[in-house]
Amino acid sequence: MPTTYDVIIIGAGAAGLMCAATAGYRGRRVLVIEHARRPGRKILMSGGGRCNFTNLNSTPANFLSDNPGFCISALKRYTPEHFLELVERHGIEHEEKAAGQLFCQDSSREIVDLLMTEAEWAGVDVMTRTTVATVATSDSGYTLATSAGEFHAEALVVACGGLSIPTMGATGFGYELARQFGLDIIPTRAGLVPFTLAPELREQLAPLAGISCPVAVSCNGERFREPMLVTHKGLSGPAMLQISSFWEPGDALGIDLLPDQDASQWLTEQRQKHPNRSAARALGEELPKRFAQAFSELQGWREPLQHFSRADLTQAAQTLNGWQLTPAGTEGYRTAEVTLGGVDTRSLSSKTMEVHDQPGLFFIGEVVDVTGHLGGHNFQWAWASGVAAGQAV
Ligand code: FDA
Repeated sequence: MPTTYDVIIIGAGAAGLMCAATAGYRGRRVLVIEHARRPGRKILMSGGGRCNFTNLNSTPANFLSDNPGFCISALKRYTPEHFLELVERHGIEHEEKAAGQLFCQDSSREIVDLLMTEAEWAGVDVMTRTTVATVATSDSGYTLATSAGEFHAEALVVACGGLSIPTMGATGFGYELARQFGLDIIPTRAGLVPFTLAPELREQLAPLAGISCPVAVSCNGERFREPMLVTHKGLSGPAMLQISSFWEPGDALGIDLLPDQDASQWLTEQRQKHPNRSAARALGEELPKRFAQAFSELQGWREPLQHFSRADLTQAAQTLNGWQLTPAGTEGYRTAEVTLGGVDTRSLSSKTMEVHDQPGLFFIGEVVDVTGHLGGHNFQWAWASGVAAGQAV
């Protein structure tokens, strides 16, 4: 005979644990099944080890989905302030790093501890190192054959996350289950991920490696003003991670190195004021000096500004305000923070995350086709979708 619960949740990550505690506090008997050795491993590595756990400015406009309106209901009912209140109740010190981005002052572990404490107080059972082999349905719910025996519940919540960082326990199991129940999957791809460059370009940019520079990057109608980091492998930093979610193979990025300036006007003024200055020296007033030096070398701007012809100046201005660069690809799921695409939200209730034609089956968190921008929005979706399902299971 299978062991019976009211609710079984697959995945002890951000969304699964939030859902578990919410359902447990409602008096539901909840089991969370996790195949990794420990819960919340991705939370632990998030935000550089300090978990950017929410964003006070999060709105539905910060999310990508094939069905953009889907996330509104859950996000409206569980807001960043709700999660912040929980964080403060647990006495976790936090700080706002960039506008609205809240991080733990000490360690991401505090967020995992918060979730596990809440789950414990809510009477939830969490079973780690347990794999699910099959899920069978009957009139009374869902029966799971697992490495720890059979379990049955009237409600099953799939909170397996996406495909990013397989070494942290990511699997495609959530998508497999969705397919088993006939749900569509919006094609998945790596998001919030560094770009790779063709060997020749990588070599050319090598002198810039390790330098961070504030830019505005654009692609496919989206624009982000954030720092860019040139690495030995390619391009990273918040600007590149953000735009990667909108980039398609073959697309060029437009990188504005002087986002606050009309470069043409600026160069003309610089030539008038400092005719003997090199472009590198002039640019060094606006950009990190090492970057200005290496970038000017790369562009072959060696002469003093007074030797720049009108055509040279126009071309240099175009490069400064819209450096066109085509990445070779991305680092893929190996280093991506998130997976774009996922379970088609048209199959789900936006209020409860329950599958329309499959009573008792729910999908939450990253496995669903809702992906946030960088900056705490992805955890906010995990919390909000977890609470929405936790109130309904
Ligand atoms: P999550 O991945 O958290 O949990 C899924 C769980 O299911 C995992 O524990 C996994 O082991 C388990 N699982 C998978 N397959 C299973 C199976 N077959 N059986 C049983 N269990 C299974 N976001 C943000 O807002 N702020 C930030 O600072 C960061 N930083 C960040 C850094 C890095 C390096 C990464 C990779 C990601 C981030 N993110 C982030 C994104 C954030 O981590 C992500 O959006 C959430 O963790 C998604 O929560 P889920 O609960 O949906 O999946």
